[in-house]
Amino acid sequence: MCKRPGEPKNNDQYLISMQHPPPKMPLRSPYLCRMQILNGKETAQAIKDSLKLEVAQLASRGAPVPHLVAILVGNNGASETYVASKVKACHEVGFKSTLIRLEEETSELKLLEIIRGLNIDPDVDGILVQLPLPAHISAEEVINTIDCNKDVDGFHPNNVGRMVLGQPTFVPATPYGIMLMLEHYKVETRGKHAVVIGRSNIVGRPMSILLSGSSNPGNCTVTICHSSTKNLEEICQSADIIVAALGRPGFVKADMVKEGAVVIDVGITRVDDPTKKSGYRISGDVDFTDVAPKCSFITPVPGGVGPMTIAALMKNTFRACAMKHYD
Ligand code: GUN
Repeated sequence: MCKRPGEPKNNDQYLISMQHPPPKMPLRSPYLCRMQILNGKETAQAIKDSLKLEVAQLASRGAPVPHLVAILVGNNGASETYVASKVKACHEVGFKSTLIRLEEETSELKLLEIIRGLNIDPDVDGILVQLPLPAHISAEEVINTIDCNKDVDGFHPNNVGRMVLGQPTFVPATPYGIMLMLEHYKVETRGKHAVVIGRSNIVGRPMSILLSGSSNPGNCTVTICHSSTKNLEEICQSADIIVAALGRPGFVKADMVKEGAVVIDVGITRVDDPTKKSGYRISGDVDFTDVAPKCSFITPVPGGVGPMTIAALMKNTFRACAMKHYD
């Protein structure tokens, strides 16, 4: 995968030095490896632009446009930010959106009653309940209650089952967004060893299924690592593709990464930073400055997986609407 310096390069490609922070301009890498940033912001924008056109065409014919309902229970700061981004994206692409905010103390029964109402509301195409939920509410019960045809998160057991079987369905937005990004940048995945760090139902587990699937991107040999994995560093060193989704800032270091690897950083941890107005910055699971010079492709944080997750959710919501009205 690594190329010699001096070969033609396009504007998205960078040669960078280990001694420097993430580059604003091309620099030379001691590994002679051409690194390309997987720009999630730009890729997500292209997806949203295309959806916006489709929605405008629907609207011009007087057809129903997709309607996403997001439910936020309590006031977890990070969840507030994510839900606000989802609502903003709906607005950008021309979807209808409704945000239902519920008090932290809302009972599980009340939440399930609201979901059942949305399930039978013909005006609603997609329902998402932002996770995590307060401890007194069972996420499993909530997910199982959402009509699987409106489950744009792809968390309902029916949809997970369909994904595992390789059938068309709603795919969880973060792994779906990563697959869309690999596809957009034509990253070769067939026959590669992919290591997924993290086994959450939202990211790690579905990611491992998709990468091992028989579509492209996919066709990888996948190892899934978690807190009980022995020799994690050694396993990562043999990876052609690493997806870091464990929620530990800066966990993946250069000595864990093979030269020419593709590194996807799913981490979005808030880390205290008094130099920022907000008092925090968002940190990925990969030590970007350390790791980037060895990579063929790498996602930045922010601006990598995050915007792709939102774009993928928009695609799922469009799909929910199309399934209902146009299939
Ligand atoms: N919390 C973190 N990621 C997600 C997601 O993709 N969907 C929902 N509903 N909650 C989340």
